[in-house]
Amino acid sequence: MTLLDIRTVPDPILRRKSRKIREVDDAIRELAHNMVATMHEAHGVGLAAPQVGELKRLIVLQLPDEEDARILVNPEITRRDGEREVEEGCLSVPGFMGTIMRSERVKARAVDEWGAKLRLTAEQIFAQALEHEVDHLDGILYLDHLKSHEDLIDLSKLEEEEHQHDFEVEVEDEGLMESRGEKRVLTVGDMKDGVAEVKDEKIVEATEQDLEEMSGG
Ligand code: NI
Repeated sequence: MTLLDIRTVPDPILRRKSRKIREVDDAIRELAHNMVATMHEAHGVGLAAPQVGELKRLIVLQLPDEEDARILVNPEITRRDGEREVEEGCLSVPGFMGTIMRSERVKARAVDEWGAKLRLTAEQIFAQALEHEVDHLDGILYLDHLKSHEDLIDLSKLEEEEHQHDFEVEVEDEGLMESRGEKRVLTVGDMKDGVAEVKDEKIVEATEQDLEEMSGG
């Protein structure tokens, strides 16, 4: 088993159309098994041959709750039903996630690694993964399905922001609220060893709603 290099954007091979496989021979099976190993190593749900530099209509898939990987040669989606919004990433677009629309259910046909014909009905993440990988065979990336660039999330920036943004929490202090009509508000920063760091504490006037909630409950 050989681990293969995963091509990433902007490698032009990701934009080319893959060719149909005429015969499922030992070379195709070897490529498929190397793709499965590469997908496992990268913790991916699917991988298409052009992502490892081979313009062949071959994909491998392994859903999180499945024991064995699927090898699909010449996969074709024959029917798509419904629409749903999904979060999607791609091993060829590292560090990003996008929100796009995918089908709820798809039907597909393919042949397996021994050349036997398969008919598949897929839903949810299986349907999503099939659409994603078959797209790769036509040079399409999930980026092409984004409706606006705001639907693309840069994961490295997201992490930074989460660390930078402190948040405020109100402390339940009925005594304070009752006697002085005030409430205590803490500004909380990052978690350290499972404990949130308190950066600031202030006493502010309670709102009418706060006072109502207290007398009501
Ligand atoms: Ni992908």
